[in-house]
Amino acid sequence: MTSVALLGQILDHANRADPYPLYAELRGTPVVRDESGPYLVSTYWEIRSLLHDPRVSSDVRNLAPEARTVPSTDDPELPPSFIRIDPPDHDRVRRLIMRTYGPPHTPRRVYDLRGEIGGIVSALIDGFQGRDRIDLVKDFSYPFPVTVICRLLGVPQEDEQRFHGWADTVATAIEPPVGTPEDQQAHWRAVREARRQLATYLSGLIDQRRRAPRDDMISALTMDRGADESPMSLPEMLSNLTLLLIAGHETTVNLITNGMLTLLRHPDALKQLREDPDLIFPLVEELLRFEPPVQLLPERTTLDDIEIAGTTIPKGASLWLVPASGNRDPQRFPEPDRFIPDRPDNQHFGFGSGIHNCIGSPLARLEAQTALTELVRRLDNPRLVEDPPPYRRNAVLRGPQHLSIAYDGLR
Ligand code: HEM
Repeated sequence: MTSVALLGQILDHANRADPYPLYAELRGTPVVRDESGPYLVSTYWEIRSLLHDPRVSSDVRNLAPEARTVPSTDDPELPPSFIRIDPPDHDRVRRLIMRTYGPPHTPRRVYDLRGEIGGIVSALIDGFQGRDRIDLVKDFSYPFPVTVICRLLGVPQEDEQRFHGWADTVATAIEPPVGTPEDQQAHWRAVREARRQLATYLSGLIDQRRRAPRDDMISALTMDRGADESPMSLPEMLSNLTLLLIAGHETTVNLITNGMLTLLRHPDALKQLREDPDLIFPLVEELLRFEPPVQLLPERTTLDDIEIAGTTIPKGASLWLVPASGNRDPQRFPEPDRFIPDRPDNQHFGFGSGIHNCIGSPLARLEAQTALTELVRRLDNPRLVEDPPPYRRNAVLRGPQHLSIAYDGLR
């Protein structure tokens, strides 16, 4: 069978600003083995089919150690979080978390946060007063989602700064390591230490909420006495609360930053949004298709031989799905490389698909809708200072490291 040498190029930081031509090349062979070992799947219908196939496992323990290409960042003392396990355990933990979060499409907890999210956005933008240039990442996108997660979980405001610190360090674990071996060792030590401190902090908070519950997600998790299934153990809670933090942080940072970058590159769309704020709803969906924060779903594995698009993927293979490529597949989306803010029929893979689809999507949508509408409304004549901006190293969670925006004043 044919193979390609594209994964290395996709992971190469030099291609981070524009990986889309590589994805187009990849779609020439929808399912193909990369020279480095994994099978790459890049077309819409094939990705969809595999995301819904029970023979595809998200549990890396099913992958032979020699087939692994991504170093584990999980805490060896905690069980894997539910994004990395299969049914039936996945479904049990997911159900327990969803019960504390509210009904799937309009979770009460997210709905109740509307006002607070608006307040956090306004306060961050007020902080730009007296300046003519901001780094959107540092001044807005980075602090925003972690503050929201704190409110969702019920982290007291006086602890938020400490929580931000751990969250920042833990989030760097998903970046590929750089520097000398000594630098890398120091980096992993710092990540492990932040994870340990975060787990200790969360254990204390869980214990407090168990004794004196409030109306927040941690209290709801500790009190859940589901009649039909065993409650979550403390290690399970720690592992899955850390997942909520990681899964909801960098992704939202990147959606907002990619969103402003795309709007500033498409001034007509920006003007349209300023005139018609309701455009934000389809526009955020189009962003999730056009510049999705999660570009790749690495290291799934096949529990059996799977025949797809004329290729047999053997049992035990490492599978890398490329949802950002599926989102640009001309077999699914007309004019896929055009940003069309009110694109109809937009079933993108921005939040995945199948049993692991994102449980945070209602919150992420609300955050991005609120942030982008307000940034566009309040920044007078915003412009990019540098295009393309510098990108973070990560190829899986892709987004700018900094986004310098100049403007004439605040409205
Ligand atoms: C799963 C994207 C925000 C929690 C996923 C998946 C994607 C995704 C693509 C599927 C992963 C897979 O199939 O392995 C995003 C994006 C976000 C975002 C683009 C922001 C723009 C959030 C937020 C939270 C969250 C705010 C939490 C509050 C999760 C969890 C899973 C998940 C827990 C795993 C679900 C499961 O395994 O059943 N997300 N996410 N995400 N996301 Fe999000």
